[in-house]
Amino acid sequence: MKTTDSWDVFEKLSEIIEKSSKITFFTGAGISTSAGIPDFRGPDGIYNLIEKTHKLPYPEAVFDINYFRTNPSVFYSFSKEMFKAEIKPTFTHTFISKLERLKKLAIVITQNIDMLHEKSGTVKVLDCHGSYKTAHCIKCGSLYNFKDFEDNLRNGIVRKCSCTGVVKPDIVFFGETLPQKFYDIMSDLPETDLLFVLGSSLTVQPANIFPLNIIKKYSPYSVIINNQSTCYDKLFDTVIHQDIDSVFKNVNMHLQY
Ligand code: OAD
Repeated sequence: MKTTDSWDVFEKLSEIIEKSSKITFFTGAGISTSAGIPDFRGPDGIYNLIEKTHKLPYPEAVFDINYFRTNPSVFYSFSKEMFKAEIKPTFTHTFISKLERLKKLAIVITQNIDMLHEKSGTVKVLDCHGSYKTAHCIKCGSLYNFKDFEDNLRNGIVRKCSCTGVVKPDIVFFGETLPQKFYDIMSDLPETDLLFVLGSSLTVQPANIFPLNIIKKYSPYSVIINNQSTCYDKLFDTVIHQDIDSVFKNVNMHLQY
């Protein structure tokens, strides 16, 4: 089965899920757009938005560590947008947590910094681009917990450390290294019999290498769901260019549990 819009695909996917016991998910910003968080590179994505609202040398500068060191306010005003409403897990986040309770989940590797997988109750999650859970002062290295800088994020005001340094959430910026746990999992890939790549343009390295290596090592049944094509579509057994929540709502209707 290749690129498909057919109704049969939902039934087929539900059958494959029922038979699988080691499902790996690789998720990107597209899984959270229905929660009200814009993606990065979609037509209404953050990088297009930021170009209109901020004077930046280039849109990705908002997540560039060198730019942040001298202009942290842009990142904090972006964070204000992200935290302005109470964000809740989507249908798909919750569906994945259900698969974990059914002991079908190998792992979720997410590029997202929104913590929605954890919020939906999923335990086996690796945030390969970090998250807002903790932060560090970029000058003295002091550690901060989310509640210590949450108000700053909500108000878009740069959090300063007692040493006057800027506090930076532990999100992986361009120019920074991914957490060690990402490299650990790359060298010991989780056994996988079904792979889903959800809502990612698969353009950012090295994270995008993870699903490609899973395909190479285990040849699992592989599914990519994204509302536009990616340059890796041809590597997947099933390619679905539709809204992620709609797909899983339909798949869920066919499941026997
Ligand atoms: P992108 O914005 O690059 O890709 C998200 C993809 O999801 C796009 O191709 C959208 O068309 C698609 N999409 C959006 N909503 C969808 C929906 N409801 N159903 C189906 N598809 C949908 O986001 P990522 O690939 O996650 O880094 O970006 C990777 C990294 O680039 C991010 O982690 C971020 C960014 O710089 C950091 O935050 C550190």
